[in-house]
Amino acid sequence: MMGVQGSSIVVVLGLLLNVAVLCNGGKTSTFVRKVEKTVDMPLDSDVFQAPPGYNAPQQVHITQGDLVGKAVIVSWVTVDEPGSSTVLYWSENSKQKKQAKGKFVTYRFYNYTSGYIHHSTIRNLKFNTKYYYEVGIGNTTRQFWFITPPESGPDVPYTFGLIGDLGQSYDSNRTLTHYEKNTQKGETVLFVGDLSYADNYPNHDNVRWDTWGRFVERSVAYQPWIWTAGNHEIDFAPELGETKPFKPYTHRYHVPYKASESTQPFWYSIKRASAYIIVLASYSAYGKYTPQYKWLEEELPKVNRTETPWLIVLMHSPWYNSYNYHYMEGETMRVMYEPWFVKYKVDVVFAGHVHAYERSERVSNIAYNVVNGICTPIKDQSAPVYITIGDGGNLEGLATNMTEPQPDYSAYREASFGHAIFDIKNRTHAYYSWHRNQDGFSVEADTLWFFNRYWHQIDDSKIG
Ligand SMILES: [Fe+2]
Repeated sequence: MMGVQGSSIVVVLGLLLNVAVLCNGGKTSTFVRKVEKTVDMPLDSDVFQAPPGYNAPQQVHITQGDLVGKAVIVSWVTVDEPGSSTVLYWSENSKQKKQAKGKFVTYRFYNYTSGYIHHSTIRNLKFNTKYYYEVGIGNTTRQFWFITPPESGPDVPYTFGLIGDLGQSYDSNRTLTHYEKNTQKGETVLFVGDLSYADNYPNHDNVRWDTWGRFVERSVAYQPWIWTAGNHEIDFAPELGETKPFKPYTHRYHVPYKASESTQPFWYSIKRASAYIIVLASYSAYGKYTPQYKWLEEELPKVNRTETPWLIVLMHSPWYNSYNYHYMEGETMRVMYEPWFVKYKVDVVFAGHVHAYERSERVSNIAYNVVNGICTPIKDQSAPVYITIGDGGNLEGLATNMTEPQPDYSAYREASFGHAIFDIKNRTHAYYSWHRNQDGFSVEADTLWFFNRYWHQIDDSKIG
């Protein structure tokens, strides 16, 4: 038993510790999620059901198909026979159906053989127009729709959703539902990597790539998801004779990398409304002289902030992460590219990988070299905000263990599942909000008014 004196010492120590934590960095949320295991939905779950009908197209998904947003890549899988790779499409105002021809691929992974994976790019679409499309021509057809983005321009409002490390657990389903029901309607998802987590199953059971495709169809058949490759896309399994990295991912998910003169589908860029989005590859070579390095070096000067004021970067492994999970895994890429991000005034960097949420202050850490030993991040108004949004809810569970005390660069961190919305209002302002799954559909757990780095270089404003 502890005496009165002993317990008051504990209280005083506790208070001191608290003050120390508060003084040292930003906010570590006091929200504590009920401890429960994150488990995958079983194979017979309704969200995994294949659509009825002979050779019915399943796992339908779309993404941007060119640099500017006038093309859409439509992908789907048929299982009984190849069937047609053609997409029929027509705009809301016209009943004249047009055709976009595509191709299908198949692949084997250990003892798994894929279905027929179709990819068809619809081109020359009009901006800001609703289109209907139909796949499965000749057998069971299914119809969906999408809305093309407005033409790029500095003050074009647009709303992005942010999801990462989704997987296919009950929590993943909650995250997706929360995103769909959010009253700030996301028009495109920026997905920061780690899709299905099929590689966590024996023999990387690729059936879990199929179930994931059926699970997310309810969103990604209607709005583009912009893909980033994570470590769970590598599927490198020499013990199974599978030595070609990214095999399932690259067969299933196509991206318009050639439109931005990239030579690999793992790094590329697109323009969408008032945003310029650069996708980087944490798991492809990025050192000096590599294709990715040369590409990024030439890409950043091309960004015209008068046309697309918002410069957004997506990657999987975060550069600024104060959790004890994956600590400093992004460090070598940060050392290579961070000076460019500051020079070109990137607005925000979204990453995943760590299964929790964290938002940084505007900081940089570019003064370091081996001789001077300066290695502490400093406040920098030309630097991006770094946001870790790897909290989609996959079967690996939450990252709850944080470095203490919270470092100065970390503005807010919380171990909960959720998603975020980046809502661009005009060239100077964007409203950002993070939503945890435990709250009602429109509750904002963390918010920030972003002031554009190019047009308006003052500190962002915290609301709430
Ligand atoms: Fe990851």
